[in-house]
Amino acid sequence: MKRLQLVGLIAVALCAASAAHAEGDKAKGRTLVYTCNGCHGVPGYANAYPEYHVPHIAGQNEQYIVNALKAYKSGERTHPTMGIQAQSMSDEEIADIAAYLSSLAK
Ligand code: HEC
Repeated sequence: MKRLQLVGLIAVALCAASAAHAEGDKAKGRTLVYTCNGCHGVPGYANAYPEYHVPHIAGQNEQYIVNALKAYKSGERTHPTMGIQAQSMSDEEIADIAAYLSSLAK
């Protein structure tokens, strides 16, 4: 009986840990946005292609970024490059990216 309670406690602790992770891991997000910099120029928004309109995403609202990436992923929002980028992301990676980008100064 004692052992069962212990197993239960561990399960609860693991659930709590993964629930916390669902909010997005900034440190992981930071490594994931490396490839985005060429276009979005985060952090600091130094646009590499001035003639090319690229929205400012550093410091953007976290939920907005999640929604935008999921919309590109599902095809609801169409843009060739962003569609390809988003399709390769898991929901967890999207959460991590959003957590990192939203933590940056605008
Ligand atoms: C090849 C250039 C390019 C790369 C690389 C790129 N993006 Fe984009 N991104 C764009 C363009 C252009 C748009 C605007 C597309 C549109 O009009 O829907 C955009 C739009 C977005 C938006 C929506 C912004 C808004 O204001 O609605 C988000 C969020 C985003 N990108 C995140 C990312 C992330 C995260 C990465 C890296 C994994 C990335 N992008 C890589 C060019 C790029």
